[in-house]
Amino acid sequence: MMGPLPKRQTAMLEKSFKLERLWLSPDPEAHLQAIKDQVVGMVSTFESGASGRLIRALPNLEIIAHYAVGYDNVDLAAAQEKGIVVTHTPDVLTEDTADFAMALVLTVMRRMVEGDLYVRSGQWAKKGDLPLGRSPRGKTMGIVGLGRIGAAIAKRAEAFGMKVIYHNRNKRPDVAYDYYADVHEMAGASDVLMLSCPGGDETKNLVGATVLKALGRKGFVINIARGSVLDEQALIDALQSGQIAGAGLDVYAHEPDVPSALCHLDNVVLQPHQASATKETRAAMAQLVVDNLLGYFEKATVLTPVSS
Ligand code: DGY
Repeated sequence: MMGPLPKRQTAMLEKSFKLERLWLSPDPEAHLQAIKDQVVGMVSTFESGASGRLIRALPNLEIIAHYAVGYDNVDLAAAQEKGIVVTHTPDVLTEDTADFAMALVLTVMRRMVEGDLYVRSGQWAKKGDLPLGRSPRGKTMGIVGLGRIGAAIAKRAEAFGMKVIYHNRNKRPDVAYDYYADVHEMAGASDVLMLSCPGGDETKNLVGATVLKALGRKGFVINIARGSVLDEQALIDALQSGQIAGAGLDVYAHEPDVPSALCHLDNVVLQPHQASATKETRAAMAQLVVDNLLGYFEKATVLTPVSS
């Protein structure tokens, strides 16, 4: 195990496997060397991932059960090379993640974190009302990545009176939202740019200076996807210069490190990668990890392989 699962699911795994907790090890490299031949299954997390080096260091590894839906930090090529099955945790986190994305839209547009600080620091009494926020109603949300989570966010945005448009690799035949093949063009038509696409090489820095410029001075960007999708320096420049109005971020390029420039800006709301972090959802994700591992070793079948 490269990171912890909730207690209940850890206990379930403990009944069938001998667990090695690498993240607690004072010397993970030495620990790994000592156990490498016995490792047949791995639980990786969105923090740890599973690098090619790690995968190749485990000669008898058969399955990686990834405790996240996004698997951009799992070296699929290395796994494939060795015929290793990789599973992830789709669907069970969709609704909580979409709730969180919408909460970030509201928090940023309605200045709720600023408002909280304004009250706590006594500025309300000294300075009077907080500057006005912006209403999402009647605005357009451009969604980058209309997959399971993007579609769940779209429903919520509509409920808040927003128009939804989207950019995907391909146009979806099953939705009526306007499709933009070009992300710049979509940013130009959006008030809120919502990033909910997979991370990885294909989307690296997909949103950079020119897309932010197209989003414009009244535009907001929300990132619940992966830090790699949004060029962090370009974002900082755009926020500092007022090129865009604000941002809500749950993910960063080098987690858990967040550029101090971002921490000094008041037009950005920062969260510690927690869009799926509820007890209910994390339990459901962990249960999928358990079910995939038990399914693989007991019945030679898994529920949610990454290729599905
Ligand atoms: C995921 O599942 O990919 C999230 O980022 C973490 O839960």
